[in-house]
Amino acid sequence: MTEREIKIGFAGLGVVGQGVWKHLERNASALEQRLGVRIVLARAAVRDLTKSRGVTITPEQLTDDAIALARDPSLDIVCELIGGTALAREVTLQALAGGKVVVTANKALICTHGAELFQAAAEGGGHYLFEASVCGGIPIIKTMRESLVANRFRLLYGILNGTCNYILTRMERESLTFHETLQDARRLGYVEADEALDLDGWDAAHKAVILAYLAHGKWFNLEDVDVQGIRNIDLPDVQWANSLGYKVKLLGIISRDLDSNRVVIRVHPALISKRNVVANVDDVFNAVSVTGDVVGTTVLIGRGAGQDATASAVISDIADAVSAIRSGSRALSSEVDLEFYRRLGADLALASPAEIRSAYYLRLSVLDRPGVLADVATVLARHEVSIATVIQRSSEETDNPVVSLILTTHECSEASMRCSLHDLDALASVRSRPLLLPIVDFDN
Ligand code: HSE
Repeated sequence: MTEREIKIGFAGLGVVGQGVWKHLERNASALEQRLGVRIVLARAAVRDLTKSRGVTITPEQLTDDAIALARDPSLDIVCELIGGTALAREVTLQALAGGKVVVTANKALICTHGAELFQAAAEGGGHYLFEASVCGGIPIIKTMRESLVANRFRLLYGILNGTCNYILTRMERESLTFHETLQDARRLGYVEADEALDLDGWDAAHKAVILAYLAHGKWFNLEDVDVQGIRNIDLPDVQWANSLGYKVKLLGIISRDLDSNRVVIRVHPALISKRNVVANVDDVFNAVSVTGDVVGTTVLIGRGAGQDATASAVISDIADAVSAIRSGSRALSSEVDLEFYRRLGADLALASPAEIRSAYYLRLSVLDRPGVLADVATVLARHEVSIATVIQRSSEETDNPVVSLILTTHECSEASMRCSLHDLDALASVRSRPLLLPIVDFDN
């Protein structure tokens, strides 16, 4: 016999909101048995009251006032699925001030206002749960907070953006250009309305900042992240990488030197060995590899976006919220313990990306004439960069004097590589901006 009802309000009933609503409705009796409460889908705040939605909801349950919904004292849980950072922040603050549990998928909001919102949850006596904010259906937040609690994290990296992974995968598999594949990704609805979020790496950077906080207890600014997207990658890069034994993937990387306590956070396309598990995660799938000092390396793979996968993560937080509400618990193992994180992040500093050492892939468009290769080699030698391989490929247009020169280097400092790029750019024979991609070397 179920003793009590838990009432949920939805701020936002778009694709993810409808998915959560649908699955909660469909699985109502199983969830009721499992959680010991009756889940009531009480109300939803939406922008357009007249729009038809794929869920059973009466006009009386709809409002266009998300703030009023957040303040509604009859609600126990508010699912903030509006997106964006202005209204979403206000809704979250109002709901948390009333001691409610807020469940969110909003990575941009957490990334920019996480410190304030977790503090508000602590002060209001509510909870702020965010499993769906990083890599959709992959349970990475709970894994790090609960299952890997024994660890200090030396390295986290992975494919944090499904849209870019889809584009890079199809380029490689079907020999398509970036623009051809992007058209398909748009047609399939994979690309965010603000395309820069996906294509320029910002969505992955939001997720990397959240993972860095979970791993290291410090909120880094988005400006602290070295972010580069995939717009400059084209088919020849993917093909050359392939012939050299690599795949091109957009990676989010959070690495920490446990001795000096310095962290680097970056998002960029990189060449990664085909032998690596993460390199073989294709299409829209995401992967996160976590290396802890106790567990070693664990890799989680799954759907990072989409209605059902994201709904699965939101519902897992709703289940945690129900347990907390039923037991009257002030602390949940799946949420952020501010004091613990304050201590964890206390002595942490940001390392400069220039300190990183890596091998590199370098693509240059150069004039095919005597001495050009010597000029390029001289610039690299001047900055202590040692060349590992060189490939030159002519243009398919017979009278085009510009050819692609592909070099890979042995490991060197990023500072050396940046100085080399600066000097290469200044050579008269180099005809367009060089493309530089790190070749990452992770065990897994
Ligand atoms: N646009 C994201 C992706 C999903 O392609 O992975 C939301 O984070």
